[in-house]
Amino acid sequence: MKNVKAMPSLKEAKLRRNLDIETIHYKMNNKYQNLGKGKLYYIYTYGCQGNEADSEVMAGILEEIGYKLADNPLDADLVLLNTCAIRENAEQRIWGVLGQLKGRKRDNPDLLVGICGCMPQEESATEKIINSYDVDIIFGTHNRDHLPDLIYEAYMTKAKVVEVLSNEGNILEDAPKHRASTHKAWVNIMYGCDEFCTYCIVPYTRGRERSRSKDAIIEEVKDLVAHGYKEVTLLGQNVNAYGKDLGLDYTFGDLLYDLDKTGIERIRYTTSHPRDLDLKTMEAMRDCKSVMPHLHLPVQSGDNDILKIMNRKYTHEVYMEKINKLRELVPDISITTDIIVGFPNETEEQFLHTLDLCHEAGFEGAFTFIYSKREGTPAARMIDNTPEEEKKERLNRLIEVTNEGYLKGHERFLGRVVKVLVDGESKNGEGMMCGYSEHNKLTHFKSTDTSLVGKIVNVKVTEAKTWFMIGELCE
Ligand code: SAH
Ligand code: SF4
Ligand code: F3S
Repeated sequence: MKNVKAMPSLKEAKLRRNLDIETIHYKMNNKYQNLGKGKLYYIYTYGCQGNEADSEVMAGILEEIGYKLADNPLDADLVLLNTCAIRENAEQRIWGVLGQLKGRKRDNPDLLVGICGCMPQEESATEKIINSYDVDIIFGTHNRDHLPDLIYEAYMTKAKVVEVLSNEGNILEDAPKHRASTHKAWVNIMYGCDEFCTYCIVPYTRGRERSRSKDAIIEEVKDLVAHGYKEVTLLGQNVNAYGKDLGLDYTFGDLLYDLDKTGIERIRYTTSHPRDLDLKTMEAMRDCKSVMPHLHLPVQSGDNDILKIMNRKYTHEVYMEKINKLRELVPDISITTDIIVGFPNETEEQFLHTLDLCHEAGFEGAFTFIYSKREGTPAARMIDNTPEEEKKERLNRLIEVTNEGYLKGHERFLGRVVKVLVDGESKNGEGMMCGYSEHNKLTHFKSTDTSLVGKIVNVKVTEAKTWFMIGELCE
């Protein structure tokens, strides 16, 4: 099996927007029922929550064919690397891990190593993996349900098995899942991205936007409620575009109203594109008790010319209007963002517009990145005159501002009682436990009562730090 298709060009990728997408229902092939019997697996997951959710599906599929999760990755008979291609440093990490695995295969010739996710969707990465690394199975983002076939073939042929599809194909329903948490769950509501921001590789690695049916999503959330789950995070690269491809008069805001009725206690969602954040979604945030008062709304830049070349399709002013409207409807909301510095030819003045926007928007957190050139994207062809040193210096100045925002976002809860969904013991010291508040603030509190895990408790905030809050359990 060898099926590697080049990463589509911008034109090809855009043309694919008109393909018909079908829903397929996963069913195990009985031939593979005992394929993994007596064997252990381990999955390393990099990148976004989309990859984490995909890893849970692959784990579910592996367990259905007999594999068990290894407590220690060194004991595994099958190791999968679910990779990310968003920035060069994400890829560098994975090359490093692949290098280390070479030694592991020398010690254990029966070890199967698979690499999947977004990196194999880039043809150049796949060629490099095939030619330079000891990897048995290579597959991409569109065929994780073929995993048993790929493993079977790798065992039978002892040759490298490569299957990377350039076409996104269908929506997979009913796949088994091994969820990492027993109280918080990822729920994909859509796959892919049609935005084509000029710096971003995701539309090429994940394909066009495809929304799951609302009934399938609602059923999944009801099932999670029945199994004791407290929180769902709705996933998509641009959740606000939910439903557009289905051609129905049913939007993301409608979905939030419907999911609020399922009995789930907490709903979060990520990621939102500012252009598609509409009034109905904001109203749902105001009206639905289960929709948490936190929004991650990546702005990327505060400069209108840069936003335009990034193809973000909104301006600094439009972004601020949306934030202000949201604050009017949900006054207590916490807003976080993503920002890229050093987009090709970004000037000091343009960078200052980003700092201005940070102050205006009052972000309580931000993921900040230096622009990374991604082959095949439109921005990769732009000539860039901004020196790397200057980009690093801008990043540091930006981080200073965003760190202040993190701290202020915690200080405003001092003396207040917050509701925390308890995740487990805290790494912040002995005798402490932790979880996230409704506003998505990491909160530590004194307790050793592990029966609190998965419960929502009241915590009075007594200390505010940059990265977390500390408080005391109360009634
Ligand atoms: N779909 C989401 C997240 C995409 S990836 C969204 O649109 O917001 C997460 C973040 O990575 C992006 O928000 C962006 O800030 C950053 N990113 C994407 N491509 C990048 C690149 N080439 N260089 C640096 N940062 C990048
Ligand atoms: Fe990338 Fe833009 Fe799509 Fe986000 S919206 S995944 S940044 S193309
Ligand atoms: Fe990375 Fe792919 Fe997610 S490139 S950020 S794992 S969609």
